[in-house]
Amino acid sequence: MVAVDPALRGAGLGKTLMQSLLMEARAAGAVLSILCPATLPFYRGLGYGCGGVTCQWSAPPTAFATPPSRAAVLRPADPLDAAPLALLRRPLLADGNGLPERTEALWTLALCPDGDPADLFRDPEGYIAIMPPRDRRLAVADHCLPSGATLGGAMGLLEGFRAQVDRVTWSGGPNDPLALLAGDGLRLDGREEWLVRPLDVAAALEKRGYPSGLTESATFEIKDSLIFGNCGRHHLEVAQSRGNISQIEQVVEAPARMEIGTFASLFTGHASARALWRAGLLHGEEKMIDRLQRIFCGAAPWMPDRF
Ligand SMILES: CC(C)(COP(=O)(O)OP(=O)(O)OC[C@H]1O[C@@H](n2cnc3c(N)ncnc32)[C@H](O)[C@@H]1OP(=O)(O)O)[C@@H](O)C(=O)NCCC(=O)NCCS
Repeated sequence: MVAVDPALRGAGLGKTLMQSLLMEARAAGAVLSILCPATLPFYRGLGYGCGGVTCQWSAPPTAFATPPSRAAVLRPADPLDAAPLALLRRPLLADGNGLPERTEALWTLALCPDGDPADLFRDPEGYIAIMPPRDRRLAVADHCLPSGATLGGAMGLLEGFRAQVDRVTWSGGPNDPLALLAGDGLRLDGREEWLVRPLDVAAALEKRGYPSGLTESATFEIKDSLIFGNCGRHHLEVAQSRGNISQIEQVVEAPARMEIGTFASLFTGHASARALWRAGLLHGEEKMIDRLQRIFCGAAPWMPDRF
């Protein structure tokens, strides 16, 4: 939580506090800072840009009445033992974009969102954690449903609450598996954006993955009024899904130009290079924009976690 005493707001304290925190994090080796904002302008002013989304879905339990033909039976499991769940979640992390590898604290927030453990059900491939029904609503605390069989088992479980609740709610991505299979009554109730602030552009680019089979390069210039190490001209070479970055002094080709917050959205793949260019946030020649488009395209980033 970030807060300034109400009597002292608007005097630059919040900005100073956050700037110091970002510099400390960078000095400690952090490459990105990620947060779920209560206010956008404050964080935009600190160099954060939109990194991805969290979708809030809901549906009546009857929307899960027709599960895939091959449905697994999900058995109760211990919600306080996250280690086996982390293993089940690994393939989702590898396929998707944006999901954090959870720390113990993040697992506690995911499986005990109100302080008490959720009810956990799993099979050898995946799991679903649900909260006790309240006010005729059933909240899914967390889910990992990587196969049709596990998904079918989870749908059967949710449908079984049709006498007790009117709606099932859950968080997920734009292509959430429960949302893909739900029938009548599915609703997207909300879509929140989370923010990213690159603390070390070169390290972030070298740790990121890139589209397999792509060999490409691009030159771009970043403006960052807080972290001067991020400023200047970067040359990125991509091959075999890896990126290699070098800072160049002499002008070989006209670089694309952007603020650090725009780079944040490009980096995660939340906004495409062409969309940012058309919005006037990314500047440069069209052929350089197209190279950035190829390098940073990928699965839409999303994350269900709150912290
Ligand atoms: C948000 C908060 C921490 C900002 O602290 P602050 O000391 O008042 O902010 P600052 O004076 O350092 O303002 C820095 C900049 O952010 C802007 N800003 C601050 N709060 C803002 C808000 N709520 N909405 C829009 N802009 C805001 C200021 O206008 C200023 O812009 P400038 O640099 O262009 O002049 C403080 O208002 C707060 O405690 N709010 C309630 C809790 C909250 O919302 N926290 C965010 C949790 S994610």
